[in-house]
Amino acid sequence: MMPLLQVENLCFAYPGNPMLFKDLHLEIFPKEKVCIIGKNGAGKTTLFYIIMGLLGPLLKGKIILEGKEIRTKKDLRYLRRKVGFLLQDPEDQLFCPTLFDDVIFGPLNMGLSKDEAFEKAWQVLKMLNIEDLAHKPPYALSGGQKRLGALAAVLAMDPELLLLDEPSNGLDEEAWKNLIFILRNIDKAIVIASHDTNFLEHVVSHWYELSSGKLKILSKTPGRIL
Ligand SMILES: Nc1ncnc2c1ncn2[C@@H]1O[C@H](COP(=O)(O)OP(=O)(O)O)[C@@H](O)[C@H]1O
Ligand SMILES: [Mg+2]
Repeated sequence: MMPLLQVENLCFAYPGNPMLFKDLHLEIFPKEKVCIIGKNGAGKTTLFYIIMGLLGPLLKGKIILEGKEIRTKKDLRYLRRKVGFLLQDPEDQLFCPTLFDDVIFGPLNMGLSKDEAFEKAWQVLKMLNIEDLAHKPPYALSGGQKRLGALAAVLAMDPELLLLDEPSNGLDEEAWKNLIFILRNIDKAIVIASHDTNFLEHVVSHWYELSSGKLKILSKTPGRIL
């Protein structure tokens, strides 16, 4: 089977800073669920930004989707349809007058009809148990509600791969459990950056650790000792 996404020989440094990634490799297969753990500052968020084409230039390396290197703006537009990114800070992801407007924005932007987009937006809001928040402005939501709202906006675009940056932060127990249930049952590839090992144990099958600029696959889950 061909990987859905490959990161090959990635080298990257923020300008004027030491090398953050040193020949980093990552392969994600369709429907595979993995996590990336690593200390604060290891580069988890930066890796997601690079995959989404939001940071550059790369000193070396390739981002490859469905076997094809991402080179042009058109490639990048295609990648952003296939790959949904939940930002670490949901405040950066919600910018409309109401949560519903934010969730329907993606489907409309993708060219769905008004009716189809409307249906899609309600479907994900219900799945995440936040339909009663639909008409609130994002600033009136709690941290955990904002995170679920931002996730709804990502899921409404029906990506094949989800990059989730610390998705369980700030969730109450009920939302935390509901999110585990959703991510376990969703038929998509998922990469989760998180410190919440208890959460990860319920969702992912493979564990990677980001340290010293590389990803290492862990043969054993770190479990609850962390
Ligand atoms: N815009 C930036 N300019 C310079 N350095 C940055 C920038 N963003 C992050 N960094 C640095 O890059 C490193 C990796 O950060 P980040 O990707 O946020 O790590 P993580 O998500 O694993 O905590 C950190 O040392 C951080 O301070
Ligand atoms: Mg981070």
